[in-house]
Amino acid sequence: MADSSESAGPPPSAGPPPSAGALPSAGALPSAGALPSAGALPSAGALPPADARRTAVEAVVRIESGGAYANVLLPKMLAETELEARDRRLVTELVFGSTRRKRALDHVVDRYLVADPPPLARAALRIGAHQLIEMGTPPHAAVSATVQATPKRFRGLVNAVLRKVAAAASAGIEYPSRAVALSYPDWIVALLCTELGEQRALDALSAMNLPARSHRREDGYVQDQSSQQVAAVVPAARGDLVLDLCAAPGGKSTEIAGRGAAVVAVDLQPGRAGLVASNAQRLGCSRRLEGNGVAVVVADGTAPPFRRGTFDAVLVDAPCSGLAALRRRPDARWRIRPADISVLAALQRRLLESAAPLVAPGGTLVYSVCTLSLAETSEVVAATGAELAALGFSAQPSSLLVPTADRDGMFWSVWTRSADR
Ligand SMILES: C[S@@+](CC[C@H](N)C(=O)[O-])C[C@H]1O[C@@H](n2cnc3c(N)ncnc32)[C@H](O)[C@@H]1O
Repeated sequence: MADSSESAGPPPSAGPPPSAGALPSAGALPSAGALPSAGALPSAGALPPADARRTAVEAVVRIESGGAYANVLLPKMLAETELEARDRRLVTELVFGSTRRKRALDHVVDRYLVADPPPLARAALRIGAHQLIEMGTPPHAAVSATVQATPKRFRGLVNAVLRKVAAAASAGIEYPSRAVALSYPDWIVALLCTELGEQRALDALSAMNLPARSHRREDGYVQDQSSQQVAAVVPAARGDLVLDLCAAPGGKSTEIAGRGAAVVAVDLQPGRAGLVASNAQRLGCSRRLEGNGVAVVVADGTAPPFRRGTFDAVLVDAPCSGLAALRRRPDARWRIRPADISVLAALQRRLLESAAPLVAPGGTLVYSVCTLSLAETSEVVAATGAELAALGFSAQPSSLLVPTADRDGMFWSVWTRSADR
């Protein structure tokens, strides 16, 4: 399940990848003519130390075979290395980029394999192919440095295959389908093309293949622009009491508290609720008695332990499939299953229906998700329409932001409760 915010911990989110600013841009590939043979590899010379690529190979194996979450694992692994900032950015691009692009990369690599290679060799091949096809790294550098980062027993294979990939990349690669070219599961491409329209969907899918951008709020919290837009639609002034029903890691709770409101931040998972508490403490907005700030409660939002009509505003930033924030979690597209969508939509509806009675007369209800599927967005709004109307809510038009290079996508809907309820 996805988490629309960036500063976070164990699944679903652990924080934004560093920017890929210092990486070589994807430009025209030089010819692959002068590649070394496996036996005569040049020394790394001016190349980044092989440690960066070795770290990347290990990370990819742990994500692919060990089931680790890329955006949880990599920061931990990098914290244990002494790599310089430039090499950390390289590792991040190699791991996140090759994880996002694995379907497209494997399509090219597999042309030159007769059997599925062991995980370490597969990881090295993906990382090498990513440099050759996506990053515009000169073939000589990409191949030799990747081979050096590969365990000895696989070096011959990796060298031979990457030399062929380099030649294919310079000749131009054709993919059998849009889903392979964009490196998504078929079902995601088909769903979004049907529901958003083809061009909009393809633009969104392309944008989510780019590295995520970091946006730092004035208080220092790193949060995507679209999450900031959702927090901003929750009305909150000094003295207001606001409920954030699915709050972890606390991006929106802390923004709302920053405007002077008292926020009750609920999350189902105790570990994730702890993230809200530590983020609030770090930002200096933990709740003081009778004051504003964030108070954290571990509870199930489908059975919230609060009296009806208690809150001036209630935000339901619901767990979702995250189809609008896939660039933030490079492995997420390979984990989500089509059947998850309807399970999540049922949960989202229950959360919204549990939240609505808690809004005080004249108050505001906000529903948001960082996904694009109709089932989790406008269909949840439609399915709850009659029940909300019966409670005196009137709806404003919903908003859908499709992901771009600058921001994640987001859907939100806002209702106002009549003052005489
Ligand atoms: C999209 S994230 C929330 C992001 C958060 N609002 C922010 O901006 O930082 C959804 C959260 O809902 C929580 N959650 C899932 N099911 C829940 C439930 N039944 N009740 C309360 N929280 C739930 C998840 O643990 C997750 O932290």
